[in-house]
Amino acid sequence: MATETTERASALDLLDWDHLHFFVGNAKQAAHYYATAFGFRITAYAGPETGVPGRASYLLEQNDLRFVVTSALRPDDPAAAHVALHGDGINDIALRVPDAAAAHAEAVAAGARSVSAPQRLSDADGSVVVATIATYGDTVHTFVERDGYAGTFLPGFVKVATSQAAPHAPGLRAIDHCVGNVGWNEMDAWADFYGKAFGFSQLVSFDDTDISTEYTALRSKVMSDARRRVKFPINEPAEGLKKSQIEEYLDAYRGAGVQHVAIATDDIVAAVRALRANGVQFLDTPGSYYDALEARVGHIDEEIEVLRELSILVDRDDLGYMLQIFTKPLQDRPTLFFEIIQRRGSLSFGKGNFKALFVSIEEEQGRRGNL
Ligand code: FE2
Repeated sequence: MATETTERASALDLLDWDHLHFFVGNAKQAAHYYATAFGFRITAYAGPETGVPGRASYLLEQNDLRFVVTSALRPDDPAAAHVALHGDGINDIALRVPDAAAAHAEAVAAGARSVSAPQRLSDADGSVVVATIATYGDTVHTFVERDGYAGTFLPGFVKVATSQAAPHAPGLRAIDHCVGNVGWNEMDAWADFYGKAFGFSQLVSFDDTDISTEYTALRSKVMSDARRRVKFPINEPAEGLKKSQIEEYLDAYRGAGVQHVAIATDDIVAAVRALRANGVQFLDTPGSYYDALEARVGHIDEEIEVLRELSILVDRDDLGYMLQIFTKPLQDRPTLFFEIIQRRGSLSFGKGNFKALFVSIEEEQGRRGNL
C-alpha cells in the first residue's frame, strides 16, 4: 500500500554508519593494536567496573569512524561463542537511524529476523534506542537512534583518558563500504534481502568472468541506500580451477561474515605511508601492474612511482578514478581485512583491479597451502 511504502522510506531513508562491533579474543590487546597501527584513539570503556558484567569493550574513534572491540569475560557471554567459532571478527554492522523501532519493524515486516526488539538504554546523559536484526551468518545489524543522547557512545560506556596517539597518524576518515562473504549461490538471496528489508538498490554487479584469475573466482553485487552512504557489496564463491578466496574465507570463518571494511581517506599516499610506518602489512602488487597502469587508467595526479613503492592500486570509471589498497588479514585466520580507499570522483569498487589484486591474494593463499 502506498502509505506503507512512504512510511518505510522515512524509517530507513536516512540511515548511516553508526559503528562496527568486533568480537575478539582479547579486547584490551585488540584495542591497542587498532590504536597503535591504525591511528584510532581509545576513548571509552565498558565492563564490570562500569556495570557491564561478563564482557569488556573499548571504543575506538578516528574522525567519523567508530569501532568497538569486545571480549567475553565469562564462557556464557555470546562474544565467547562467536570467537570460539569464527575467531576475531565483526559481529555487528550498526546503523544510525532517526527511529530505531520503526526501522526494526519495517525490516522485520519485509522478512528480516529480529534478534532483539527495540529497547531504550538510559543513563544520566539521556537515552538511546537500539534494535537488532540478523543478516548473513552470525552477523547482525543494530539500528541505533541516538538523537536524544549526550553521553559517550552508549549507556554503560564511560570516557577514558584518551590513549596515546599512534606514532604516525594516517588520517582515516569514514567507512566507505563493508563487504559480506556468503555461501555458494547465496549472493542473490542476500542482495534481495537488502533490497526488501532496507530498500537498497543494486549499484553494480560483477560475475565470475570479471573477477577471476586462472585459479579463483567470485561473484559480487553491491547494494546501496539511495544516498549512497551505506554500501554493502555481497560476494559468493564461484567455480575456478582451484579454491576460491571466498571459499577459503568461509572455511576459516566457519560461515558467512564480513570480509573487509573499506575505510576512506582524503590522502591515501600519506595514509599508507603512516600505516606502513606503524607496522600495518599490506598485500603486495606485482610490479608489472604499474608498467601497464597509465595505459589502463589514463593520467592521474599521483606519481606512479610513489604508488608502486607503496603498492597502491588505481581504478577508473566514467566519473573519475579511485585509489585503493588492501591489508593482510587482521587476525590469524585469513578472514577480515581492511581496504584503504581514496575516491577522486569514481564510484568504482575496483573492478579493474580485481585481476591484479587476486593474483596478489592468491600468492598469499598459496603460501598458506590453500590453493
Ligand atoms: Fe572493497
